[in-house]
Amino acid sequence: MISTDTASLFLHPDRNLAMELVRATEAAAIRATPYIGKGRKNDADGAAVDAMRAFLGTVNFDGIVVIGEGEKDRAPMLFNGERVGNGHGPACDIAVDPIDGTSLTAAGRQNALSMIAVSDRGTMLDASSVFYMDKIVTDATGYGVIDIERPIGDNIRALAKAKGKDVGEITVAVLDRPRHEQLVDDIRAAGAATRMMLDGDVAGGINAARYGTRVDMCAGIGGSPEGVVTACALKALGGFIQTKLHPRTDDERQKAIDAGLDVDKVLNVDDLVRGDNTFFVATGVTDGQLVNGVRRLGPIIRTESIVLRSKSGTIRRVEADHLAAKWLDE
Ligand code: FBP
Repeated sequence: MISTDTASLFLHPDRNLAMELVRATEAAAIRATPYIGKGRKNDADGAAVDAMRAFLGTVNFDGIVVIGEGEKDRAPMLFNGERVGNGHGPACDIAVDPIDGTSLTAAGRQNALSMIAVSDRGTMLDASSVFYMDKIVTDATGYGVIDIERPIGDNIRALAKAKGKDVGEITVAVLDRPRHEQLVDDIRAAGAATRMMLDGDVAGGINAARYGTRVDMCAGIGGSPEGVVTACALKALGGFIQTKLHPRTDDERQKAIDAGLDVDKVLNVDDLVRGDNTFFVATGVTDGQLVNGVRRLGPIIRTESIVLRSKSGTIRRVEADHLAAKWLDE
């Protein structure tokens, strides 16, 4: 039954934050557009970073970048630990990915997104010491059904049963990487289908958790930051995620331990981001399954974004038309 106490959902002072943040992902996507298909990955990323940072400076919040472009000595902007926002308003953790899919953008391929996730201060896991995470994402059906420590075939069969589907109807999104050869074989051996992704496992995870998509599960090893960002989105979708950090070397394992991370622990959605006040916004850079990319329509630049807010459990689509003249040589 839907709660009648609807008003309480809207009392939080930062309820408009997501709508403000979307301006920053729109700006990053627009600024990356000239580089789509030009083979200039770093230029695309640089333009998106500049634009996102400039817009974030105007947003009414006091943000600390927990997941950013890297350590301060390597990333001049949006580095981990940087303060962003106008310094007023709610104290937040923020994860930024000005382009998730820089290679996709440079190649002119589909599914590149600009994204931001925000949560209350001190609630986002800083997993920056470990590059990769093993992840499994589904919709809410996964709760009590999926266990990342079990073989993928068992999880597929359990999910199919819980969804009332044949195993043959289950589709698993997987990043197309050599490291996933065995995973792909096991998925197909179980009788399920794969949907191979060139890049962008945040969108893959969201599609697995979203109602009415062609994907039932997203599985495999991808970036740790992307795992935390996915968790922020899943809180609004009510989706399921389990992850385990995946250090590549003993040195990385030690760095994780030194940072206070438990590399053997199964991390669920609340380990990745605590609390029930997360925001996730993403704007399409190139066309994708989640949203369309930036389009030029005569005097207009059209952007498409999604805005997810966990407190209210909403997913909104935002289509914006920007006067192209305003974006020339700023
Ligand atoms: P970037 O565009 O930020 O490089 O990330 C793309 C991405 O595909 C992520 O979505 C994913 O989590 C990660 O890279 C996987 O890493 P790798 O490309 O090393 O397998």
